[in-house]
Amino acid sequence: MDRPKVVVYQEASVDGRVAYTPDVSMLYVFGKWRGMMGDSTLYPELMEWIKSTHHPQAFLEGSGTFVRKDCKLDDLPLFHGDTQQLYGDFLPDSVLKDPKLQGWGVLVDSKGLCRNLLAWVDEGIHGLILVAKQTSPEYLADLQRKEYPYLVAGEERVNLPLALEKLRTQLGVTCICSAGGGKINGALLRAGLVDEINILVCPVVIGGMETPSLFDSPDLKIDDWPTKLNLISVQSYDEGHVWFRYEVIRE
Ligand SMILES: NC(=O)c1ccc[n+]([C@@H]2O[C@H](COP(=O)([O-])OP(=O)(O)OC[C@H]3O[C@@H](n4cnc5c(N)ncnc54)[C@H](OP(=O)(O)O)[C@@H]3O)[C@@H](O)[C@H]2O)c1
Repeated sequence: MDRPKVVVYQEASVDGRVAYTPDVSMLYVFGKWRGMMGDSTLYPELMEWIKSTHHPQAFLEGSGTFVRKDCKLDDLPLFHGDTQQLYGDFLPDSVLKDPKLQGWGVLVDSKGLCRNLLAWVDEGIHGLILVAKQTSPEYLADLQRKEYPYLVAGEERVNLPLALEKLRTQLGVTCICSAGGGKINGALLRAGLVDEINILVCPVVIGGMETPSLFDSPDLKIDDWPTKLNLISVQSYDEGHVWFRYEVIRE
């Protein structure tokens, strides 16, 4: 495989919702979400289990986890230089050779929506942005000014197979854990890039018509088949949570 193994980890209601209302970012409602889903220690415990089992060197998120669609963006200075040098991968030595670096917090953000949030993601984990040829030069110039790494993959939006291939070949990532929202996981699923699915089902029903759910993606056509899974394990917990672990069957 010339791409990393992709392990999805999601916390969902019984009806598969990964948020309780549309168009809110986790940053605004995290406390309320935790209270709704019950047992606040289980989700991080299972994440620790995924880390110690799969040893992912990268964690993938979509911009929808961090920003609302209508969020107010900081204006960036207009870029007047040679745009060509912006549209190659940018992996500065100041980050790559940092002795503290242990892995990557990878964010799909071709529109620069998360420009106000750039930082180290966690101890030893540095952020890295996936962008595309349509990403504005102002955003890329801003990333370069801040010595913030990015990989360019795709034209209008991020080409996920190519981006994963680059993570493998350029940064040696052999496993990536996607703990993002419904659309990013749906895009990975439709591109045939998901290898393992971990769902922590919480004892609530959320409902809704527009509320993000696991694997939001284009509808199947009449001759299509769903992605088939093989159950690896299932475990239930006292407060009514159930953890399903599946591998994707490749045909
Ligand atoms: N329960 C959980 O475990 C959990 C975890 C994380 C988040 N959440 C919740 O999930 C919600 C966010 O989910 P969401 O579905 O709105 O947003 P999302 O999953 O973050 O999806 C939007 C992101 O996916 C990218 N994307 C979508 N389709 C793509 C495609 N075909 N190819 C390439 N990139 C694609 C977009 O990139 P571009 O902008 O570059 O186009 C954008 O970065 C929030 O409410 C958050 O709180 C829940």
